[in-house]
Amino acid sequence: MKKKSYKVGSLFAGIGGICTAFEQSGCEVVWANENDKHACTTYKHNYPKVKLYEESINTLVERDLIDDKKSSKNNMVFKPLKAIGIPEIDILTSGFPCQAFSVAGYRQGFNDEKGRGNLFFRTAEFIEAFKPKAFLLENVKNMNGHDKGKTIKVIEETIKNELGYSFIKFILNSKDFGNVPQNRERIYIVGFRNESSYSINDSTKTGNILTHNFNIPKPIKLTKTIHDLLEVERQEDKFYYNSEHQYYKELNDKMSSRDTIYQWRRVYVRENKNKLCPTLTANMGTGGHNVPLIIDNFGIRKLIPSECLKFQGFPRKFKFPSGMAASHCYKQAGNSVVVPVIKRIADEIVRVLSLSEE
Ligand SMILES: C[S@@+](CC[C@H](N)C(=O)[O-])C[C@H]1O[C@@H](n2cnc3c(N)ncnc32)[C@H](O)[C@@H]1O
Repeated sequence: MKKKSYKVGSLFAGIGGICTAFEQSGCEVVWANENDKHACTTYKHNYPKVKLYEESINTLVERDLIDDKKSSKNNMVFKPLKAIGIPEIDILTSGFPCQAFSVAGYRQGFNDEKGRGNLFFRTAEFIEAFKPKAFLLENVKNMNGHDKGKTIKVIEETIKNELGYSFIKFILNSKDFGNVPQNRERIYIVGFRNESSYSINDSTKTGNILTHNFNIPKPIKLTKTIHDLLEVERQEDKFYYNSEHQYYKELNDKMSSRDTIYQWRRVYVRENKNKLCPTLTANMGTGGHNVPLIIDNFGIRKLIPSECLKFQGFPRKFKFPSGMAASHCYKQAGNSVVVPVIKRIADEIVRVLSLSEE
């Protein structure tokens, strides 16, 4: 098989979880976009060589994607666009925030302000402008049923009918697909260019159709336990609950096992009976709420930010910049992805694209 380093562009890049996975799969991340300044600081700390557009995707689209007057396409929801200045890519990735949008509003066409401002459509505009060979979209599992299934339907129609890509949708839990002891279900959508009429479920498969060659990752055994990822040394005092703390009594009464992870859910302690880390969320740390809690040799404490990165499967070399406030670190880790799950998808995209280069 011919080895090729595919060029990746990353939208809603956060701290670069998806970028890390694609780099591990041998790709080159050439640019990324993220508008949260703290996430950008962490991104640049780990990826100083990637061109990071530190601004809203709205600014990027309005400034750098222009009408393609030469295009023969018309009657489409998206104006034919081309990119100026932003380097070309083979693969586009996007972990866009999920927002409601109505089918009716979007059908009003490209000038509909509501539709245009939607972050999925921003991603679609990038696909239209760059025409990457393949893309990967990542989102919360609930996007599948969001707005009674209308959201995912609009996404599927747009990808197939407007952009001309195949639509391969699957939901993976990191505990079953990434050998990471975190319960985290996410929806993934992969598409290949000019293959809108093909599906991975087609009864007859053709060797040169990339969509037909793509395999959704299969479950793998979970061999890692939470103890493989938890630090054993004493951590900074600020992560411990001392006996003076207002929640201490409740925590001390309810937390008894060292083999499980607990969570403070505003007014009560929740035990995760399956010995896994609960889904790390972006609102971890806000008001002391949702941060996973454990008992270690020194007391009851929160997971520290670097442990959160381990529960997202980040490599050891990935670090938060020194001085980054813990609240920002928790938010950034919770917003990110489980790297080994994305790596399996990225490996498969790379394998399939390489088939067409043979
Ligand atoms: C769910 S996170 C994606 C995490 C990322 N996929 C990763 O691998 O770590 C969504 C990100 O989109 C960013 N975001 C939200 N609105 C944005 C906008 N208008 N322009 C650029 N980035 C935006 C947020 O700051 C957040 O970091």
